[in-house]
Amino acid sequence: MASSVATLNRSNDAYLNANVFDLFSLKERVVVITGGARGIGLALGFAVAEAGGVPVMIDANGQPHGHFQILQKMCPKMKLYVSDVTNYERLEKTFNEIIAEYGRIDGCITAAGICPDQPFLERSPASVKRCFDINIAGTFFTTQLAARQMDKQAKQSSAAPSASKGSIVLIASIAAHRASKGQFLSDYCTSKGAVASMAKALAVELAEKSIRVNYISPGYIMTDMTLAISDTRPGLAKIFVDDPPMKRMGDRTDLKGAAVYLLSDSSAYMTGGELLITGGLHAGLYDEVA
Ligand SMILES: NC(=O)c1ccc[n+]([C@@H]2O[C@H](COP(=O)([O-])OP(=O)(O)OC[C@H]3O[C@@H](n4cnc5c(N)ncnc54)[C@H](O)[C@@H]3O)[C@@H](O)[C@H]2O)c1
Repeated sequence: MASSVATLNRSNDAYLNANVFDLFSLKERVVVITGGARGIGLALGFAVAEAGGVPVMIDANGQPHGHFQILQKMCPKMKLYVSDVTNYERLEKTFNEIIAEYGRIDGCITAAGICPDQPFLERSPASVKRCFDINIAGTFFTTQLAARQMDKQAKQSSAAPSASKGSIVLIASIAAHRASKGQFLSDYCTSKGAVASMAKALAVELAEKSIRVNYISPGYIMTDMTLAISDTRPGLAKIFVDDPPMKRMGDRTDLKGAAVYLLSDSSAYMTGGELLITGGLHAGLYDEVA
């Protein structure tokens, strides 16, 4: 009768040789980042470069933020590919160009996204479709194109030395968990819930290929997107600062370490997981009562 008891590999001293700085290194890793021309995507490009990797940006906007030049100086190998995550043929061509240029893809961050703010009863089909196309389908197909290449590399053993064959980090949002006070984000919240579900489904399906999929859910982070939103309705600035129990907006700095953790071997046993970086907002609200 076959034994139902799994055979344990009883060696348990690998950690003695796993230096924590090496675990967090992205040396020689090529990381594709959508939405990399500005905002969170651009900041995470700095994080990748600072950890020794090469960020490769994809963005629909060919005029990147001024900080992009600083990143290019830090990492001359990096480039911006102008492409649209909602146009599959063009996106596939962009991935083929990236693979031809860099030879491989070891990591991917999906930060391209939009955040329409309009009451549910006024949302038009075309505008809702655009939000879902960018935030959901764009994330889905970016992940598919990255994972296909990671799988191919794993079979050819040409990937950079790494505990996993590839790591994909989806950018979801606190909006996947709760409605946003003072904002009308029905389709945005729906789209971020979809990203969270996507991460879990893909994590399970791709685990046997050693491709990991995790997601970061930021709270209110200061970027051009949130600045533009608070310019249209200044009352939101107070909510962005006062609602998180830590009583401040997040800075993009607050996301850099999380991205490097998820991309690197330091998270080798983590897949299908979420890092909520919200200043405590996801845990609850705190107001002093006189
Ligand atoms: N800023 C926040 O407070 C916050 C909080 C939670 C989640 N997020 C998410 O983080 C991601 C980035 O947000 P951000 O604040 O940096 O926004 P941002 O507007 O500053 O940057 C988004 C980038 O995505 C690009 N983009 C938009 N549509 C695209 C398309 N079709 N194809 C390719 N690129 C496209 C834009 O050109 C832009 O460069 C978004 O998915 C957003 O939902 C942001």
